[in-house]
Amino acid sequence: MQQKKVYIESYGCQMNVNDSEVVASILAQDGYTPVTTAEEADLVLLNTCSIREKAEQTVLNRIDQVNSLKNRNKELKVGVLGCMAERMRGELLEQKKVVDLVVGPDAYRTLPDLLQQVGGGQKAVNVLLSREETYGEIVPVRLNSNGVTAFVTIMRGCDNMCAFCVVPFTRGRERSRDAASIVEECTQLVRDGYKEVTLLGQNVDSYKWRPVKVDPTADPDAVVDFADLLDLVARACPTLRIRYSTSHPKDMTDKVLQVMASHPNICRYIHLPVQSGSDPVLKRMNRGYDRAWYLERVAAIRRYMPDCAISTDIIAGFCGETDEDHRQTLELIDAVGYDMAYMFKYSERPKTLAARKYPDDVPEEVKGRRLQEIIDRQKLRSTERMAGYVGQVQEVLIEGVSKRSDAHMFGRNSQNAVVIVPRWVGEPARELRPGDMVHARITSSTSGSLQGQVVEPIHETGATA
Ligand code: 5AD
Ligand code: SF4
Repeated sequence: MQQKKVYIESYGCQMNVNDSEVVASILAQDGYTPVTTAEEADLVLLNTCSIREKAEQTVLNRIDQVNSLKNRNKELKVGVLGCMAERMRGELLEQKKVVDLVVGPDAYRTLPDLLQQVGGGQKAVNVLLSREETYGEIVPVRLNSNGVTAFVTIMRGCDNMCAFCVVPFTRGRERSRDAASIVEECTQLVRDGYKEVTLLGQNVDSYKWRPVKVDPTADPDAVVDFADLLDLVARACPTLRIRYSTSHPKDMTDKVLQVMASHPNICRYIHLPVQSGSDPVLKRMNRGYDRAWYLERVAAIRRYMPDCAISTDIIAGFCGETDEDHRQTLELIDAVGYDMAYMFKYSERPKTLAARKYPDDVPEEVKGRRLQEIIDRQKLRSTERMAGYVGQVQEVLIEGVSKRSDAHMFGRNSQNAVVIVPRWVGEPARELRPGDMVHARITSSTSGSLQGQVVEPIHETGATA
């Protein structure tokens, strides 16, 4: 088979990064090798995100750039994958003449057939969503990998229908992947030298797998929930650091927290998106919890794991948000003391509950001001949390060379804080490598990272988190 070259660019969430790796695996069977620039490729695929309008605009501009490559290489084919393919199939094919291929998140297995059509000079589209597809047995080809950390998708889609969110429309119904195939992928990653996995799902707390689905002799009532899955992976891979994302405050159980607390290799870090600190806004957002419930979940995390870091997502300026609602959000940021937050201005998305029911009535400049106040407030809290590590010895998994300085390496502690340490350690000096697990004494901090000195000895193989 003639070797063809594919370049895949991923936008948006971690799930898209992992989907691109599944796509690379499917295309490898079809004779494609991944390359690292669009210029050298026969096929350019953009794996896209629809979460906010700005994300879509970035990709639309990028499609125009890729267009200029077609002038130089008449054989070049261009495809749009992921959420925008699902949401904007028509516009993409009609207005973006350069696009040859449009494939939604559940249709990647059909890529080889679609590429045959494209090879014959036609345009090809498959945006069918599925209730079953989990790409369970496909072994992802790790792209741009540091060889240390990897993503493993455990479920797809979302059934929650938060009023602002386009995901249920672009990624379809929720479905969980076979627990045995997840454990198998993780153990294989350990054999390949990986030291950390992040288990991914839109809402990991609603993970549910019935073994009887694939094994008729299994107990018909047996169910593996997310806590069981975490326990299975942690036991099967005791030297692997385990992270996961994303939790949903309405579904996060004490059972999950108990399993985390009982395994030192499950990282002390939970991403728990709150979205707003105001009850009327949370109600309109259809989040399924109120402020008191959320704060109780935070208290539960701290009961089981006092050293657990918590991060969140916050939306500024959702429909009908008043100054008082906004004040409640600022107050909640203080009350929780988040280690980190992703903060956004509300962006109306077509078809969503909010787009159909509520006017997008907070003026742009008010959204901007509120977002800035949220960012400023969170920065104070991040600075405080990070300063709390100064003087402590932290276990750090080294991921690579620091982006700012060749003389330093960066890694993360269990709480997911970035730690910067000198690249050369000890006397005689030994160079740290990605995958090393070191103890570092933290000497200083900023709002975004920690600086430290390595305390010897260094573990070359994965240790506990
Ligand atoms: N506008 C702004 N932010 C959004 N998010 C999801 N949908 C929107 C939207 N329409 C944010 C939420 C979510 C994160 C992934 O993106 O905070 O948790
Ligand atoms: Fe969107 Fe809500 Fe599902 Fe998250 S839980 S993907 S915010 S609908």
